[in-house]
Amino acid sequence: MATEPLPPQKTASADRGAPVTAPEDAVPAAGSTGEPLVRFDKVVKRYGDHVVLDQLDFTVDRGEHVTLIGPSGSGKTTILRLLMTLEKVSDGVIWVNGSPLSHVRTPGGALKPAGEKELRESRKKIGMVFQQFNLFPNMKVLQNITEAPISVLGKDREEAETRARELLDLVGLAGKVDAHPSQLSGGQQQRVAIARALAMEPEILLLDEVTSALDPELVAGVLELLGDIARNTDITMLCVTHEMNFARDVSEKVLMFDAGRVVESGTPEKIFSDPSHERTREFLDAVL
Ligand SMILES: Nc1ncnc2c1ncn2[C@@H]1O[C@H](COP(=O)(O)OP(=O)(O)OP(=O)(O)O)[C@@H](O)[C@H]1O
Ligand SMILES: [Mg+2]
Repeated sequence: MATEPLPPQKTASADRGAPVTAPEDAVPAAGSTGEPLVRFDKVVKRYGDHVVLDQLDFTVDRGEHVTLIGPSGSGKTTILRLLMTLEKVSDGVIWVNGSPLSHVRTPGGALKPAGEKELRESRKKIGMVFQQFNLFPNMKVLQNITEAPISVLGKDREEAETRARELLDLVGLAGKVDAHPSQLSGGQQQRVAIARALAMEPEILLLDEVTSALDPELVAGVLELLGDIARNTDITMLCVTHEMNFARDVSEKVLMFDAGRVVESGTPEKIFSDPSHERTREFLDAVL
């Protein structure tokens, strides 16, 4: 749970060192159309005959922090993997910033499924942190963070390393630059994974149960770091979590999923204290 209140300005707290800076284009342009940053438009995901996402519609506004809740198997991870372009939609369209993420426009204006090249391009805007950290075990901490900025964004090594050191300072791991992941605790590995995602200067940060593999005493520190990022940057966040206090502190909107559809959405106060649907009530009774 995030604890200390932070000053409202968009800089990191003093004790965490370098600021987390959002990409310049993460701020809406003057005269912006008000188009949501993310829009799922009748998105279907099937594995064989199994319909995992069923004509799913939802939107996320720029800068919004959204918590996704719902029972196991309801499709939460699938939603994040589709956004990360690790999976392809079976039907429907995912829009990011008014452009189709899952598709490209043909010269005639029709939409066709995006190819690998377009998907790689889309992936640059989005960062993801997984439950199991997924660090590169054979690389030192610094390299884990600089690898994608150099190979995907084309940054030069010196610039990437300077930024990686700033981010390690921010996540409280300045002393671990040369460590290998196996020499770090779970909480430290997850902080590196968060730094690695931020190094890509994502517009959107996807967090999939990032504290559920951690020892209980390490959870609060990682949640506090994520709370800092939410408060001090303009990065849009989609977060799957069972940490309801964190969801209350950090998110403006909670989406409750069941069987690949949104059962209801609302503020954390509304969803956690006065849900409209029996399915939400049952779910919250089971997890709270
Ligand atoms: N690669 C795959 N092949 C076949 N079925 C899959 C695949 N990935 C996910 N599924 C199925 O899709 C459904 C939704 O899975 P998903 O991982 O999105 O659920 P979830 O809401 O994240 O659940 P949990 O809370 O347990 O993490 C599940 O029934 C799962 O078995
Ligand atoms: Mg999941």
